Amino acid sequence: MNIGIIGARNIGANAARLFADAGHEVEISNSRGPESLASLVEEIGANARAATVEDAASFGEVVLVAIPFWRYESLPAEPLAGKIVVDAMNYYEGRDGRIDFGDLTSSELLTRRLPDARVVKAFNTMYYETLRTEGNRSGRDRLVLFIASDDEEAKAVVSRLIDEIGFEPVDTGSLGDGGRKQQPGSPIYNNPMTAGQARETLAGL
Ligand SMILES: NC(=O)c1ccc[n+]([C@@H]2O[C@H](COP(=O)([O-])OP(=O)(O)OC[C@H]3O[C@@H](n4cnc5c(N)ncnc54)[C@H](OP(=O)(O)O)[C@@H]3O)[C@@H](O)[C@H]2O)c1
Repeated sequence: MNIGIIGARNIGANAARLFADAGHEVEISNSRGPESLASLVEEIGANARAATVEDAASFGEVVLVAIPFWRYESLPAEPLAGKIVVDAMNYYEGRDGRIDFGDLTSSELLTRRLPDARVVKAFNTMYYETLRTEGNRSGRDRLVLFIASDDEEAKAVVSRLIDEIGFEPVDTGSLGDGGRKQQPGSPIYNNPMTAGQARETLAGL
């Protein structure tokens, strides 16, 4: 599968490496331009290329967004229309400034910027070092990556990708209810757990 990556450091670079190692083609982008990504793509290997944000967005059937949340309005809506957009972002007021969400989750607000994208919230609950080092465990020891979306087909695609890189997908629900469960402060946020532990914790929420 062709996967675009927007944001190329802690989360973006590690996710790109995992997808490329699983046999996918990845185009990676950041704010400084493709030249700044030469050593990263060389290190990841033949399945990775550096791109502009627009090109990575156009290239990906799935596009993972891992930039500071306050930059979300810079994302290009047109090339992301119809794409599965994986929202790995979290909102922290101290970093991102005060944003008025009304009743929306951060992923629901993202859908206002990207009205035709198929947004799946995932890869946002796991610390990047855990993502980097703890994939490919076997059986029941696998760690969970949580997913939320209003688009069941998109959820299935992202679940398969998560499985392929050695984590266990666990569905938290819609972008509203599920997305809220995945936000900072939740018991499932930044708390590595197996599927059994995840289902138990979710049942209490
Ligand atoms: N760190 C974690 O463990 C973790 C875990 C889960 C979720 N998250 C969330 O994931 C997101 C990224 O976190 P991170 O720790 O990976 O951040 P990071 O290491 O600071 O990397 C941010 C990346 O985004 C790029 N970027 C910034 N603004 C951009 C824009 N407008 N267009 C394109 N690229 C842009 C930066 O480009 P340059 O390299 O050119 O500066 C950089 O590559 C955040 O929302 C964070 O809350 C983080």
